[in-house]
Amino acid sequence: MSMRAPTAGSGTREVFATRGAFIFAAIGSAIGLGNIWRFPYVAYESGGGAFIIPYLVALLTAGIPILFFDYALGHRSRGSAPLSFKAIHRRAEPIGWFQTGVATMIGIYYAAIIGWSAMYAWFSVTHAWGDDADSFFFGSFLQVPDLESGASAFGFDFVPAVLIPLVLVWVVILAILLGGVQKGIAGINKIFVPLLVILFAIMVVRALFLPGALTGLDALFTPDFAALADPQVWIAAYGQIFFSLSVAFGIMITYASYLKRRTNLTGSGMVVAFSNSGFEILAGIGVFAALGFMANAAGSGVDEVASSGIGLAFVAFPTLISQMPGGALFGILFFGSLFVAGVTSLISIVQVPVAAISDKFNISNRASVLLVGGIMAVVSILTMGTATGMYVLDTIDAFANNIGIVGAAVVALIVLVWLLRKLPVLKAHLNAVSSFKLGGYWTVTLGVITPVVLIYMLVSQIIEYAVNGYEGYPTAFLGVFGWGMIGLLVVLSFVLTAIRWPRATEERLQKTLEENDDLEQNPSTFGTEK
Ligand code: ALA
Repeated sequence: MSMRAPTAGSGTREVFATRGAFIFAAIGSAIGLGNIWRFPYVAYESGGGAFIIPYLVALLTAGIPILFFDYALGHRSRGSAPLSFKAIHRRAEPIGWFQTGVATMIGIYYAAIIGWSAMYAWFSVTHAWGDDADSFFFGSFLQVPDLESGASAFGFDFVPAVLIPLVLVWVVILAILLGGVQKGIAGINKIFVPLLVILFAIMVVRALFLPGALTGLDALFTPDFAALADPQVWIAAYGQIFFSLSVAFGIMITYASYLKRRTNLTGSGMVVAFSNSGFEILAGIGVFAALGFMANAAGSGVDEVASSGIGLAFVAFPTLISQMPGGALFGILFFGSLFVAGVTSLISIVQVPVAAISDKFNISNRASVLLVGGIMAVVSILTMGTATGMYVLDTIDAFANNIGIVGAAVVALIVLVWLLRKLPVLKAHLNAVSSFKLGGYWTVTLGVITPVVLIYMLVSQIIEYAVNGYEGYPTAFLGVFGWGMIGLLVVLSFVLTAIRWPRATEERLQKTLEENDDLEQNPSTFGTEK
């Protein structure tokens, strides 16, 4: 039987050939820039060793339960995020579109960081940053204008060293996605996920043998228990888990929709969640061992060399690469890992709107890749390939993650669990196909703990941005790329919901839901794919 959809739109749908192919793809999606670039500094800034407590609590009370929730939505309807929400209830469809919109926004800037990583792998050989990695990154490389000197945050001054790799990243991503779910997505993950683990493991082992490595590990793992009383630390832990596990912005819904009917969903989810967190902790160890070396060499504390956010990867690491023996190879391993991890995540991000438009307008996956992926590529190149791209990136990243993803998760839980009371439907589906069954724990976490925590997080984040702005950026700029972007996504979600679904998609959904009824009523006759 052919796995490929014929030229028809959504009448037939591709599937992952095996559960292993899906697990690789889901791990590839989860492990991304969030693990290597974001986790180490978030953990360090949020109480070091004590962060592991909120991190695990967030993983167990929100990350894994929402991962199962996403799997159930996508697998039950075998459809994109908007179709999956519509399959639960007609009025829930805008939530699916909002999640799709958030993924689209994240994809637009995510590509730029992958492009930087490719350039920095090369710079590791040439040591292009000279003695001052900080002014090289923001000045010579990104050419970011200084807002304090009166420069405008809006602008179209293209920066070739950023623009050209960005174009190439999009060519690679679209080429993979044109290969479809099995040949393209599963095919690349089968190679890239093991490659990533090998590259990264070599990097971490090398880092652990650097003089001073233990000082860095001490800094990361020495608990600051007072931090546990700070709500911001808990917010950071939940935010990190969502971004890192790729939940609540359509990705896991979309990937699960390509699974065969009989698939062990909860078992697969546990493998994905623990692989992701294992890799994340490994990244923390590797990065802080390296920073320990730098602190040792500079005779300073790790806190003085551990700059936050973008700076950690693109400023601290170049400095380190210049200082250590064998730095060029180390740089290639680190930035190569960042590139590989980024590509396998970006394909999953872009597939979210690709699948949604394919379902809604009954066009083939390939046509949707060209249309949706093409538009995303053009917008990404026009915004991120410019000197002011860094401000746009930083703003979209903050608003899409802290308000977009958290908001999408809150609204999904309030509407589906509290108002429509659909948790039993999703639970019945998961339990009909999975090896280990969900019980009261899942219901309590998603019914009570997670929505309450997320509502608190969302409200405090909105107040914070409304009162204090973000990073001192001009109000008009935040109005366009922060609040404006979120507002536009909300409006578009309702506009797209108002458009009628094509007959072919409706019929396919109907058939899938009928098959599910059979499956949920007589699970034992269907068995479970091992
Ligand atoms: N889950 C992806 C990451 O961690 C998006 O970067």
